[in-house]
Amino acid sequence: MKRQNRFLRKLFIKLFRLDEWHYSGHRDKEYAQYTVKIINNLIERDKKISGHIIEIGCGLGDIIGYIKAGRNKKMGLDLEQKVVYAAGILHPDTQFRKGSFGNVRNQEVYCLIMINLLHFIDPDYTKREIKKILENNKVEYVVLDELRGTEKTSYRYECHGDEILGEQYIACYQSKRINAAQGANRHIIIYKKVN
Ligand SMILES: C[S@@+](CC[C@H](N)C(=O)[O-])C[C@H]1O[C@@H](n2cnc3c(N)ncnc32)[C@H](O)[C@@H]1O
Repeated sequence: MKRQNRFLRKLFIKLFRLDEWHYSGHRDKEYAQYTVKIINNLIERDKKISGHIIEIGCGLGDIIGYIKAGRNKKMGLDLEQKVVYAAGILHPDTQFRKGSFGNVRNQEVYCLIMINLLHFIDPDYTKREIKKILENNKVEYVVLDELRGTEKTSYRYECHGDEILGEQYIACYQSKRINAAQGANRHIIIYKKVN
């Protein structure tokens, strides 16, 4: 298991004025550990995977940085330049770029990860952007998290994969209930493209 490197995280937060949220790392976040575990299981099962593993909204790489695939196979995208710079130092075995939905184009994508991201982005925008990704790339799996019990929380959207992805994708795995902030809870869901 990789080191979490709390010292460097703290330094980056101070130096680059990153959101304090980034102090929690892989081992502090059950959902991140769970996501990594199920994707690594998928990779192990499929053996020879074709295409890339891409995480949009990757933060400091607490998910993509722990996926068992070579550097040329996995990529984290985040809107913040300083975040991707810091993530690259923490995880030299992973590629990181400044970017978002619009930067996934003409690729074969084995797995598209969007975890702890969609709950603050307008769902109509999300739907439009993800539709474009699915039309312009060959995407086999999509992994996202759906929230429940958000009424009294600052989460704005629960995010329903069925609505976002449409009929071409079906849920093939749903995690146990995992605690989210402020008393809400989340499930990690794997969607697979229907052939
Ligand atoms: C709550 S953090 C989650 C990070 C990571 N997925 C995790 O769970 O550890 C959300 C991250 O998404 C990035 N972000 C927010 N909106 C984005 C967007 N539209 N496209 C790409 N990244 C975005 C933020 O900069 C932040 O680093």
